[in-house]
Amino acid sequence: MQTPVQRNALDIHVLLTEARKFTPSKQFQAQANVNDPAIYEKAAGDYEAFWASWARQLEWIEPWKQVLEWKAPHAKWFDGGKLNASVNCVDRHVLGQGGANLRNKAAIIWEGEPGDTRTLTYWDLYRAVNRFANVLKKLGVSRGDRIAIYLPMIPEAVIACLASARIGAVHSVVFGGFSSEALRDRINDAEAKLLITADFGWRRGKQILLKNAADEALCACPSIQNVVVVQRGGVSTPPCHIQASRDHWWHRLMEDASSSCPPEAMNAEDMLYILYTSGTTGKPKGIVHTTGGYLTGVYATMKWVFDLKPEDVFWCTADIGWVTGHSYVVYGPLANGASVFIYEGAPDWPEKDRFWKLIEKYGITIFYTAPTAIRAFMKWGDAWPRKADLSTLRLLGSVGEPINPEAWIWYQEKIGGGRCPIVDTWWQTETGAIMITPLPGVTVTKPGSATKAFPGIFAEVLNELGERIESGGGYAAITRPWPSMLRTLFKDPERYEKQYWSKWKNGIYFPGDGAKRDEEGYFWFLGRVDDVMNVAGHRIGTMEVESALVAHPDVAEAAVVSRKHEIKGEAIVAFVTLREHARSKSSRMLVEAIKDHVVKKIGALARPEEILFSADLPKTRSGKIMRRLLRDIAEGKALGDTTTLADPTVVEDLKRRYEEDE
Ligand code: PRX
Repeated sequence: MQTPVQRNALDIHVLLTEARKFTPSKQFQAQANVNDPAIYEKAAGDYEAFWASWARQLEWIEPWKQVLEWKAPHAKWFDGGKLNASVNCVDRHVLGQGGANLRNKAAIIWEGEPGDTRTLTYWDLYRAVNRFANVLKKLGVSRGDRIAIYLPMIPEAVIACLASARIGAVHSVVFGGFSSEALRDRINDAEAKLLITADFGWRRGKQILLKNAADEALCACPSIQNVVVVQRGGVSTPPCHIQASRDHWWHRLMEDASSSCPPEAMNAEDMLYILYTSGTTGKPKGIVHTTGGYLTGVYATMKWVFDLKPEDVFWCTADIGWVTGHSYVVYGPLANGASVFIYEGAPDWPEKDRFWKLIEKYGITIFYTAPTAIRAFMKWGDAWPRKADLSTLRLLGSVGEPINPEAWIWYQEKIGGGRCPIVDTWWQTETGAIMITPLPGVTVTKPGSATKAFPGIFAEVLNELGERIESGGGYAAITRPWPSMLRTLFKDPERYEKQYWSKWKNGIYFPGDGAKRDEEGYFWFLGRVDDVMNVAGHRIGTMEVESALVAHPDVAEAAVVSRKHEIKGEAIVAFVTLREHARSKSSRMLVEAIKDHVVKKIGALARPEEILFSADLPKTRSGKIMRRLLRDIAEGKALGDTTTLADPTVVEDLKRRYEEDE
């Protein structure tokens, strides 16, 4: 017989495992944009036709000649077709060619951290994009040129992207939380001609001085000819240096610009943007996305995954510096003529209920955020969301990292009031759009599972040899091309082939994620299988942090691993061997100095949680760092007291133990 305690434990187990399922309600199903399960088979039957039917819903200047040309690993989607992304996101809504004329509909509803607000209708956005496109042209930017964007979450960030697309330039948005050195490297790799930044942005009541950081970067960015500076303004603007002839205020330039700028007719395969993301080396990769296929992918997933309706107010909390911001703040929602809500600041400013207050104030209907945020909300307690009226919400989304079932259930009950379906969406910077996800009017969801591939996407779990795993664990794989896939790595086509297409060959894409398939074919993502960490939903390479560490004058050698973290999912632990001269320094001060150094090199998102000084780094005979050993130490499994790592005999002993195990 079970004791109550055992039964309780069992209930929780059942609650938190695959056994708990959520079927879409009849009401939701009835009104859903897609509610026929047969759609999966239909799309798989002729996936090119399926994607072409989506592409046809966009506005084209010239039709394509061929839906797909696939010479693995190089895809061309809708080649020969001509279109412009800004026309699809703005013009067609104000000029009414797509049916409804949305000129007076809110395109962007914005609130700054201090509480200042702005709303741009589609007409406002149309004029602003045209004017800024003319500004860019006047500053010498033309088709194919790269521009860098380093802005807070303000409407100008969206305007800048769309204006770039309008004139056929290529944008590279750099997250405002990256350091000046990280910005410099990205500008130089893209050879950007122009930078758009702001005097500052608000974060937790503090002014983040972006222009100052940009000035530091620009000391070593020979390609930049002009800098456009948005005046975030409002309250006591801090002094920000304006360098005559190079720097220009956004508002001044806009005053003189005409609000009519004919869009460039872009080939479907012309580059729309580059977005840098971390990989397995010290140098971030420039992911290249093109125009026609990318727009098709984000347009389709926006409509079906989020069940988007004309009256929705959609809030994706991602920063525009990440792919989620590109695809589901800018291109996906605007291509659909949606109203997008954007908030500049932190969720706990001035209090821990800021997000819930915003949902109530703006009547948000669809809310899309990351598990890290959800876990933080859980920790802050139910009282915060309970204070607000969240009844306008009808759908919730999750992205960026595996969501633990506890957080899923909490999200569903406390934020969704038990009535909102949850879409746990798996995808990557490389995939451009959502790949594995529930369809909220079709899919029976299981907390913790991203469920199944979107129609027209072919996903599998494979073993090392590339054999299909019917049920069980292995590597996630995408077996056919898809419209919003990356096309290459900027200036590094070899790395493109090697990184993504060489594990199994035969045109199978390797995302670098471990995954499990259950008996019903559901995907359960298990995290990265390469040297990429996912810290608070942000992708950071171990090598990137290691390069930053060894650039510190006191550091001889460094190895970085991650350990599980209750809120952030993973936290960074750095093992550091000091140079001879530094060994006598106070370790407490050194720890802080080294952490600050990483922040300076990369940004606060890469700040190590812990630095452990080690006499030696444990290496195999062939010189490879024994990461499993380091991971076990970081998790507290291999060694209780980490201070003993400073003793070389301890490292040797550990090494021997692990070598015997291997
Ligand atoms: O490991 C997967 C994880 O995030 C990685 C992609 O990171 P990034 O390119 O920065 O894009 C994040 C936002 C799309 C993936 O390789 N990941 C993303 N979404 C999920 C996820 N892991 C589990 N479940 C998800 N829903």
